[in-house]
Amino acid sequence: MNYELIDGKATAAKIKEEIAEEVKQIVANGGKRPHLAAVLVGHDGGSETYVKNKVIACEACGFTSTLIRFEDDVTEEQLLAKVKELNEDDDIDGYIVQLPLPKHIDEQKIIMAIDYRKDVDGFHPINVGRMAIGLPCFISATPLGILTLLHRYGIETSGKKCVILGRSNIVGKPMAQLMMQKQYGDSTVTVCHSHSATLKQECREADIIIAAIGQPNFVTADMVKDGAVVIDVGTTRVPDATKKSGFRLNGDVKFDEVAPKCSFITPVPGGVGPMTICSLMKNTLAAGKKEYY
Ligand code: GUN
Repeated sequence: MNYELIDGKATAAKIKEEIAEEVKQIVANGGKRPHLAAVLVGHDGGSETYVKNKVIACEACGFTSTLIRFEDDVTEEQLLAKVKELNEDDDIDGYIVQLPLPKHIDEQKIIMAIDYRKDVDGFHPINVGRMAIGLPCFISATPLGILTLLHRYGIETSGKKCVILGRSNIVGKPMAQLMMQKQYGDSTVTVCHSHSATLKQECREADIIIAAIGQPNFVTADMVKDGAVVIDVGTTRVPDATKKSGFRLNGDVKFDEVAPKCSFITPVPGGVGPMTICSLMKNTLAAGKKEYY
């Protein structure tokens, strides 16, 4: 089959341009420039990179951004105090607390303290609950990025069988909720995970596979039917001496053998990854416009 590569990098760049254009109009009409704050604790390499890229994306979109740093030994009380301050700061439209946090801090407690109206990550239980019943809300970045790719590539999801691999709070669970809902996916959804006895069988029957299981090369050609749409959310870092960074990102899908069977497939890198940051920008724009709350 002649597959079409879903170009997340180009799509994300286009969306950021569209956002920048809208921000220009807002500012020209006397409106406020959207303002995103990011809280970063410690010096984890991955988190540093993600947050740096979020700040760069803010600049590209014409947003104001503020980076707030804490050392690893910050107390839960100090972090909660900052969250309270950000909740009360009228200039901040939305903010994120980069995860993971150090072990001595209760992540859920921090997330619960974020004002859901500024929760552009869509992690607060109010946003998760509103999403589950189809109310306006911030949808978390990776699921929103996947929905945007499916939509922009004109991929029919209504009535299709969608198999989601993985049940994480950040990807698998929200993706299942969204794909089953009429206004987003309208698909017939099956969620499989590491203990699903019929995983391979389910995949073979799927029109759409969304792989978010975190195991490199997990999805092989024998698991994919001809003409399927395959979305690869995997981003496992594997050592690679040929790369400047010393590692490369490996997807959950064995791309070379799976791609020829697909109608559409996302690469890693350059597929879902770039869409997550641009989805955060979309949410920040919505927060600035008070679109949901
Ligand atoms: N860590 C990994 N991905 C994310 C994300 O989307 N948001 C936050 N806050 N932390 C993360």
